[in-house]
Amino acid sequence: MPSAPRHERLIVALHWLVALSIVALLGIGWYMVGVPQRTPARGFYYNLHKSLGILAAVLIVALIARRLTRRSPPLPDSMPGWERKGAHLGHVVLYLFMVLSVIAGYLTSSFSRFGPKFFGIPLPHWGWDDVALREKFAAAHRILALVFAVLIAVHVAAALKHLLVDRDGVFQRMLPRRSAAPSRRP
Ligand code: HEM
Ligand code: HEM
Repeated sequence: MPSAPRHERLIVALHWLVALSIVALLGIGWYMVGVPQRTPARGFYYNLHKSLGILAAVLIVALIARRLTRRSPPLPDSMPGWERKGAHLGHVVLYLFMVLSVIAGYLTSSFSRFGPKFFGIPLPHWGWDDVALREKFAAAHRILALVFAVLIAVHVAAALKHLLVDRDGVFQRMLPRRSAAPSRRP
């Protein structure tokens, strides 16, 4: 199997931490809205979701900042130009959904009397208690999450196609390296 140059360790670590937190946020988010209102369980899951969302936001900012200061290694020549452009565009869209989902979530809780919190620590309110506005941001947050989940499914399918069908080493670019040895080039 060809060994394409890999992503650096920091990008790999941040990618998997962000991926894990987003999958958890989607799962907890969809679960918590079905928990009966005014129960301790609902408060618990909402607070967990908000705290994890803030943690994800920090990781997302770190990932984007690192990515903006460092180019990705080139994709293999075996990939046609349109596929390389498509992969790049797809990644930009994923970054956009990360940022928009966090902002919409933060605004949703900012326009509620409970407010955004990080493991019990109250965070700046970007709004006030307003049911109508809260509902608008919650609807935006809900739609973003649904489209995001579809995009993630497409992304995972593309990654698996590289692993199982193309076998071009692109999947391995995002795996942790075993040793500190420099990446081999074809
Ligand atoms: C919530 C889930 C995920 C999100 C939001 C996400 C997001 C991203 C983003 C934005 C990139 C581009 C990195 C760059 O800037 O170069 C990327 C790359 C990659 N992702 Fe994911 N990812 C997720 C889950 C996964 C999963 C589950 C897999 C494996 C099955 C995977 C495999 C890969 C691979 C192989 C690359 C490298 C592609 C390349 O080198 O061009 N991702 N991911
Ligand atoms: C990438 C980050 C995020 C993802 C993927 C995500 C995902 C979700 C999902 C799937 C739901 C359930 C939507 C529904 O079906 O009604 C939800 C609800 C919610 N999220 Fe997030 N979330 C993220 C970040 C955040 C952040 C940072 C906050 C606040 C600090 C937040 C606050 C909320 C609140 C308050 C709700 C409940 C909305 C309602 O009651 O209708 N989320 N989120």
